[in-house]
Amino acid sequence: MKWKTKITEIVKCKYPIMLGAFQKYDNARLTAAISEAGGFGVLTASSYKNDEKFRNAIHQVKEITKNPFGINFSASKNITREHKFFRFIEVAKEEGVKTIITAAYKIENLSKQIKKNEMIWIHKATTMKHAISGEKMGADAIILTGLEGGGLKNPNQNTFLINMVNANKLLKKPFIASGGISNSTGYLAALMLGAQAVHMCTAFLATTESPIPDNWKQKIIETNCFDPNFIKKVYNFQTDKPKYTDVSMGAGLIEAIIPAKDLIKNIINEAEEILNNLGYQNELIDFTCLSNYS
Ligand SMILES: Cc1cc2nc3c(=O)[nH]c(=O)nc-3n(C[C@H](O)[C@H](O)[C@H](O)COP(=O)(O)O)c2cc1C
Repeated sequence: MKWKTKITEIVKCKYPIMLGAFQKYDNARLTAAISEAGGFGVLTASSYKNDEKFRNAIHQVKEITKNPFGINFSASKNITREHKFFRFIEVAKEEGVKTIITAAYKIENLSKQIKKNEMIWIHKATTMKHAISGEKMGADAIILTGLEGGGLKNPNQNTFLINMVNANKLLKKPFIASGGISNSTGYLAALMLGAQAVHMCTAFLATTESPIPDNWKQKIIETNCFDPNFIKKVYNFQTDKPKYTDVSMGAGLIEAIIPAKDLIKNIINEAEEILNNLGYQNELIDFTCLSNYS
C-alpha cells in the first residue's frame, strides 16, 4: 500500500514515521537506517561539537541512503548569530538537507535563518500555546509531544489524545503526533486523529542501529506501564532517578531489539492488516483529508 499524508508529501518520505531527537549521541547510522527504510531520519545537531563533525555526520548518512532526512536543532535560549547552529544551517543547506526541526525554547532567530534559506521548517512543541506560536512564526508543520513522551517536560503539557483532538480545531498547519507511540496501533490511532505523521524517539532508541548503551536498550524493552518509577517520571516530571526511566510511555511496547527497518516494517504491516480487517483494500491510503479535520 502507498501511504500518503501531507508530511510524506512535504518532506518526501514513503512512510509518515519520523525519528525524535536525542542529544549526546551520534545518531547518523540510525538516521540513515530510518530514511533508507522509508521513514524520515533526523540528526540531532546538538550532538556535534563543530562544523566538521556535523558535516561528517551528514556525509555518513548520505553514504548509506539517498533518501531525504532532516536535522533537529534543540535551542536552550534565543540564540544569536554567533551560535554554531547558524553555521550548521548553512552546512545543512550546502549538503542538500531540506528539512529542519526546531525544539525547546525560543527559536525566533533560528527560524528566521531557516526561512531565509528557504528550507522546510517543522517546529516541535510540548504545549498547544507553543504550537500556535510556532505556526504564527511561519512553521510549515508542528510536532506536538504529549505528556506520554520522553525528553523535556512542561507542567502544562497535555496527553496525546487531548493534543490531537484540539490540534484539529486550533492548528491550521499539518501536525505530527509525538509521545508514547511505538507500535502499529499508536501509529494508526495518531493518523486517524488527523496527525499527518508520527514522531518516535523511545522506540527507535531500542533498535540495533541506535547509539545508546545496550543495557539502556534492554531497559526500554523491559520497562512498561506497570513500573512505579516509570509512572513517577512520566506523570510527575521527576527526572532525577533512576536514569533508565528517561524514556517514555512508549517503552515496553516493543519486545526485542531489532533493526530500525524491521520496526518500521512491523508497524506498517500491522497497520495495513488492521485496515484490511476494516475492509479497506485500496492501494493508496490517503490521510490528507483527515488533516485539521474539525
Ligand atoms: C533520552 C531522550 C533524549 C531526548 N533529547 C531530545 C533532544 O535533545 N531534543 C529534542 O527535541 N527532543 C528530545 N527528546 C524528545 C524526543 O525527541 C521526542 O519528542 C519524545 O521522546 C517523543 O516521545 P517518545 O519517546 O514516546 O517517542 C528526547 C527524548 C528522550 C527519550
